[in-house]
Amino acid sequence: MLITNIGELTTNVAAGDDRSGTLKDAAILVEDGLIAWVGPAAEAPQHPETVDAGGHAVIPGFVDSHSHLIFAGDRADEFEARMTGEPYAAGGIRRTVTATRAASDDDLRARLASHVAEAARQGTTTLEVKTGYGLTVHDEERGVRIAAELTPEVTFLGAHVVPAEYADAREKYVELVAGPMLQAAAPHAKYIDVFCERGAFTADEARRILSAGIAAGLVPRMHGNQLGPGEGVQVAVEMGAASVDHCTYLSDEDVAALAGSETVATLLPGVEFSTRHPYPDARRLIDAGVTVAIACDCNPGSCYTNSMPLMVALAVREMRMTTAEAVWAATAGGARALRRDDIGVIAPGKRADLVMLDAPTRVHLAYRPGVPLIERVYKDGARVA
Ligand code: NIG
Ligand code: FE
Repeated sequence: MLITNIGELTTNVAAGDDRSGTLKDAAILVEDGLIAWVGPAAEAPQHPETVDAGGHAVIPGFVDSHSHLIFAGDRADEFEARMTGEPYAAGGIRRTVTATRAASDDDLRARLASHVAEAARQGTTTLEVKTGYGLTVHDEERGVRIAAELTPEVTFLGAHVVPAEYADAREKYVELVAGPMLQAAAPHAKYIDVFCERGAFTADEARRILSAGIAAGLVPRMHGNQLGPGEGVQVAVEMGAASVDHCTYLSDEDVAALAGSETVATLLPGVEFSTRHPYPDARRLIDAGVTVAIACDCNPGSCYTNSMPLMVALAVREMRMTTAEAVWAATAGGARALRRDDIGVIAPGKRADLVMLDAPTRVHLAYRPGVPLIERVYKDGARVA
């Protein structure tokens, strides 16, 4: 297939100062699910199957590197209460745990499949999915197993909160997570995550659980510095985490540690939108040289949206990122956070994961918030929306 007459193509192949690698009047040749050629439309090779982009913009498929989509139930009442002044509390997670444990495998599978399809319609071609609402060996194992049926990017998050039945025995729960639960989950997961925060897990508990995960062959990642300052970022960098996510409350030392590391700072502005917390300071991170990703964190508690176009709009409007930076963070940044080099970039040899916008430029994603601008979505060269 040849996609031609692309008004503005974001390749993410850096060209001088332009990290977005923007080409005007471009074309892309796709062969066997991969990108075979990229360049000016006037120089494109002939192909019998040609798609005319009508002068519209094309960007890489969104890489949403953070979601919690193995769950049942609904917490719309908590959202409503928050909007009238109630604070967000991590303890709400336990309500979803009760509903998730009671759900059948088929129910969890059907819900995840519907989320994956909903995300694809909004341009997401790679979606990371975490567990964390099971919190027993049985429920965490089935969570990663079901998630792995629908995405290769699966994260074991047994360390989300200490479940109610271990409230007086947290040490025993940490042992369970780092031991039998991890052993059961590891064959179906790629990453291990810990919610390192007051009310969840301490820095030492996080170290212990992530070390056990690394020993079991998983890549560490971390929820850190979401609800207040803390050691999450420092522990993530020290453990060589692929990413530390949230990063809302950072000290200068945290920013310096991230800047000197390979750990990606993944910002989740939908959470701040849905909890009325202050947005993280993306400019401070980018100006310090930190690699920044943005993701949705879709979950029933702190942020129930899987719209990457909304994240781009929030990043631009609320976190002072340029649209070019926001689109990079939502595509190439997410790929870095997942340690993937075959996605997030439009270049020969990469996967043909592409989004055609119903707009002439990517700026429209932030300029026209809430408008359905996703015209066509291709994953591995096949149309999925
Ligand atoms: O990323 N921070 C921890 N976990 C989720 C919230 C989960 C919930 O409230 O159910 C988050 O925001
Ligand atoms: Fe999260």
